[in-house]
Amino acid sequence: MHCIAPECPLYGGSDSQLQSASSVPRHQLTTTQMDEKGDFLALDLGGSKFRVLKVKVSEDGKQHVQMESQFYPTPKEIIHGNGTDLFKYVAECLTDFMETKDIKHKKLPLGFTFSFPCKQNKLEEGVLLSWTKHFKVRGVQQTDVVSSLRKALRKHQDVDVDVLALVNDTVGTMMTCGYDDRRCEVGVIIGTGTNACYMEEMSNIELVEGDEGQMCINTEWGAFGDDGSLESIRTDFDREIDLGSINPGKQLFEKMISGLYLGELVRLILLKMAKEGLLFNGKLSTDLCTKGKIETRHVADMEKYKEGLNNTKQILTELGLTPSEEDCIAAQHVCTIVSFRSANLCASVLAAILTRLRENKKLIRMRTTVGMDGTLYKTHPQ
Ligand code: BGC
Repeated sequence: MHCIAPECPLYGGSDSQLQSASSVPRHQLTTTQMDEKGDFLALDLGGSKFRVLKVKVSEDGKQHVQMESQFYPTPKEIIHGNGTDLFKYVAECLTDFMETKDIKHKKLPLGFTFSFPCKQNKLEEGVLLSWTKHFKVRGVQQTDVVSSLRKALRKHQDVDVDVLALVNDTVGTMMTCGYDDRRCEVGVIIGTGTNACYMEEMSNIELVEGDEGQMCINTEWGAFGDDGSLESIRTDFDREIDLGSINPGKQLFEKMISGLYLGELVRLILLKMAKEGLLFNGKLSTDLCTKGKIETRHVADMEKYKEGLNNTKQILTELGLTPSEEDCIAAQHVCTIVSFRSANLCASVLAAILTRLRENKKLIRMRTTVGMDGTLYKTHPQ
């Protein structure tokens, strides 16, 4: 298996190749995917950062992708506000980007990477099933997000954008990786949330007519365990994280793995150890007792090779603690355990998908490529 973490030029989604990815059988996908060229716009909403992109696909036997992008903040008022304001904001950022890039006069196709579980009957339609991660916008669940985006864009008469495709970030990652390596048939995200998609045989998909070729399945593996199947491995810390989250009982696997939660898991463990007198001479600090004060980027810093121990001392001191050398070593060890568990859980579900692919192909050994992306995957030192 060859894992690559591409800069994901089409992470934000382009049009025709993404159309193929989510709804067209693979035998059509391969031809369509390798042919398209031109300029596209893309929106990437749902990860750690909201991004608007301009993507240029050119072809000289092999496809080349050039990308320019801009990040926009996602203020709390927006991601915990109402749907109309969210799409108004997205449309404003897009027009601002087009203004900056001087492309307002161009009619461009747009791919919308929307990294949440959706029911998709068409490529340019996606009914949001539920919000995940830190998003909770009123009035969007059970509605088509493409229609809402188009409606918001209609208010900007100075731009003419054609929303052609809605894709999950895992699908965008798999498709992007496909430009570098045509064997890519799995896309994985380990970032704020976690998820994977893979190419399934049409003959195994009952919901869709026809047995020829393949189709992309978005597994939404972050929701694994929501039926109780992970209870034997969930800990008290996992339960506490879940209870304190905006979606209790949901995305239980994601809460054991992804960037939105690892820092808080570490904080809860350190707090319990301190309360039991195992750390910091039994002394607590206000910050150690405050939700969200340890973030996943801190966990990554504490685990860094060489400077990790110094970082740990600094981070704990900034939390208002007075750590000894042993405290720092122990805290660092807690980080390693939490990260290692996350990595192992990801590896096991990925292994399940790969086994499925191998069995589908009736092979004993299989060579394939997995497209990987996500802030946690890209920034964690291990
Ligand atoms: C969402 C997925 C998404 C993943 C990674 C999860 O919370 O449900 O749709 O692919 O996060 O962004």
